[in-house]
Amino acid sequence: MSTKSEKECEGDTVILGAGIIGLATAYYLSRSGGTRPESIHVIDSSAELFQCASGFAGGFLAKDWFAPSSASLGALSFRLHQELANAHDGRKTWGYAPSTGVSLSSIEDSESAVGGSGEDWLADGTSRAQATKSEKSLGARGPVWLKVKEGLEVISQEDTVAQIDPLRFCQWLLARCLEKGVQLHYPARAISVSRDAENQLNGVRISQSGTETECMYRAPLDWHMLIGTVPCTRLVITSGAWSPRVFSTLFPKSTTRIPISSLAGHSLLVRNHHHSPENADTEVCHALFATDDVGFSPELFSRVGGELYLAGLNSTTIPLPEQSSDVKVKPDAIEKMKKCAAGMIAAVDGKDMEVLREALCFRPVTASGRPLVCRIPDAKLGGGLKTLKSGDGGVFLAAGHGAWGICQAPATGLVMAELIEGRPTSANISAMVLPS
Ligand SMILES: Cc1cc2nc3c(=O)[nH]c(=O)nc-3n(C[C@H](O)[C@H](O)[C@H](O)COP(=O)(O)OP(=O)(O)OC[C@H]3O[C@@H](n4cnc5c(N)ncnc54)[C@H](O)[C@@H]3O)c2cc1C
Ligand SMILES: *[C@@H]1O[C@H](CO)[C@@H](O)[C@H](O)[C@H]1NC(C)=O
Ligand SMILES: *[C@@H]1O[C@H](CO)[C@@H](O)[C@H](O)[C@H]1NC(C)=O
Repeated sequence: MSTKSEKECEGDTVILGAGIIGLATAYYLSRSGGTRPESIHVIDSSAELFQCASGFAGGFLAKDWFAPSSASLGALSFRLHQELANAHDGRKTWGYAPSTGVSLSSIEDSESAVGGSGEDWLADGTSRAQATKSEKSLGARGPVWLKVKEGLEVISQEDTVAQIDPLRFCQWLLARCLEKGVQLHYPARAISVSRDAENQLNGVRISQSGTETECMYRAPLDWHMLIGTVPCTRLVITSGAWSPRVFSTLFPKSTTRIPISSLAGHSLLVRNHHHSPENADTEVCHALFATDDVGFSPELFSRVGGELYLAGLNSTTIPLPEQSSDVKVKPDAIEKMKKCAAGMIAAVDGKDMEVLREALCFRPVTASGRPLVCRIPDAKLGGGLKTLKSGDGGVFLAAGHGAWGICQAPATGLVMAELIEGRPTSANISAMVLPS
């Protein structure tokens, strides 16, 4: 005979990974009215949250830059970002702002800054052709902070691109979850699943990882309880590039491999000296995509509040570390990015370039370019493990958003909450299942 409190625990949800996807899932699930917020546990293995792609990303949002299979999710997410920002003062709280997408076909001045890489575009006729065509189209809408004024072309429609500071957005999501009663545990990791006499999933064994550190957001649970079993019937994997490892750890008998790999990316955050507090409310943001003239394709975003974010220097050879917080930037990559930034950003008299943050993080990528947003069929869990029917239980996956995880997070969180509760989904995610 089970007691009432045991019964209540049966429907608990464990979400593995407190990046933007895990938090968006917890956010919508805790607000659906169908799941007790206190029964939602978010677990992250890192000793410091947001030292991952979700904290270090650019924060560029687009409404319709997606392949047909992701278009529904992308459009919904763009709208949810807008709605959240309108309802909760997103401009002030997480730097939400409409943006103008601009392409740059030649990085004029960076040629001398990054030695020997200027020839290619000079010899390239198409860049020239693009340059003449574009000058007219941009006019006064060009970024004031950009040194180069030629070769610019607007590539976005009115109100179809926007920007946020993903770190501040994640912090906001987390605060709303905790406020509702969602429980956060970190650093901790799931080491195995437990099952009942019928071989049905009924819990996750959690161990503390790393040394005990002061938790900024301490969960309303005693620390020692973390090393034990969290009873749950719903398990959600939102561990970004670590998702395949998490799955194989928890389901060692499964022959299924989660087809997600990692793509490392360096980024640089620098002060925008062209920004002034007086025009903070009217400041226009730009997202600049340059062609590969400097050994990589720079992406430069101006954010509200006077920050410029540079990324685009990726690597497939930097291995995914054990912990997201273990990552160390590669000095040569940072040097290259600083040169690029110096070549592209117009200096302001007497002010040196001021680097606010250097970072390296890992995008979770799939070969198809589509994220995986689905329930994992019981048959793929291995060992004859079963889970409760849709709505009551199940093992779920939301990862592999590649370069678009910030943009697609709200809709992913919403459809995950719907999937977990066994309701119809608000976006068409039929192409986002595990390959059979
Ligand atoms: C340089 C760069 C720029 C980008 N720019 C943009 C952009 O402008 N717009 C956009 O839309 N997207 C952008 N992205 C992509 C975006 O950052 C990612 O798609 C997104 O952050 C993925 O979120 P996630 O929550 O799936 O994974 P992550 O952010 O990686 O979070 C995963 C979490 O899981 C935790 N974890 C790992 N192992 C375990 C475990 N065993 N147990 C529990 N937890 C675990 C990690 O500690 C981490 O907190 C960019 C990415 C990079 C690298
Ligand atoms: C959902 O998307 C799939 C492919 O991604 C498509 O075949 C299907 O027609 C779509 N369904 C609806 C209802 O639009
Ligand atoms: C690096 O990744 C970004 C996405 O964040 C992408 O737009 C860019 O094309 C990539 N560059 C290279 C050289 O792979």
